[in-house]
Amino acid sequence: MEDELIKLMEQRRSIRKYQHKEIPDTEIRRILEAGILAPSSKNIRPVEFIVVKDAEKLEALSKAKMGGAGHLKNAACAIVCIADTRKADAWVEDCSLAMGYMMLMAEHLNIGNVWTQIRLRKTALGVSAEEIVRRLLNIPNYYAVEAILSLGYLAEEKSPNTVEKLEKNGTIHSESFM
Ligand SMILES: Cc1cc2nc3c(=O)[nH]c(=O)nc-3n(C[C@H](O)[C@H](O)[C@H](O)COP(=O)(O)O)c2cc1C
Repeated sequence: MEDELIKLMEQRRSIRKYQHKEIPDTEIRRILEAGILAPSSKNIRPVEFIVVKDAEKLEALSKAKMGGAGHLKNAACAIVCIADTRKADAWVEDCSLAMGYMMLMAEHLNIGNVWTQIRLRKTALGVSAEEIVRRLLNIPNYYAVEAILSLGYLAEEKSPNTVEKLEKNGTIHSESFM
């Protein structure tokens, strides 16, 4: 079990090239359920998800910021991760955990995925990416748009991550920083 979890974490890579193939709703549902299972600060659960499969909307989302979102145009599906900021102050963390859980579930289902940052990002003209996504998907302004999980069956292969590759000298401190 533990070995399987580590393997899943090693295998997960950001996948930005996808096949033209639909993802069954049952699989999308399982990914969303993983997001719902993520813990949240004070158990407030301010995180909500918008599932987007419409090709025109996916293309519009791919242009919501300058660079780093182009893959959404060819995605089979996008899960937009939003949070009700009236309810919670730690919504960035709450959304991030939901995203991480969904990424691992997508990996478990062999569905390529990549976190696409929206919060703090802008278009080339300086327009807020959050505003663009809010307008496109009719999201009230008291909801923050943290990120979009782009999903699709893999059309590229990447070698797994390994701790040996990623751990730097000084990543882990013992008892104190120095
Ligand atoms: C907070 C966060 C924001 C990210 N934003 C983007 C993004 O906007 N566009 C993108 O293509 N990848 C984005 N990524 C994916 C990272 O580039 C990727 O995780 C990193 O390069 C490591 O590669 P790996 O996921 O294959 O291990 C983001 C990842 C995180 C955790």
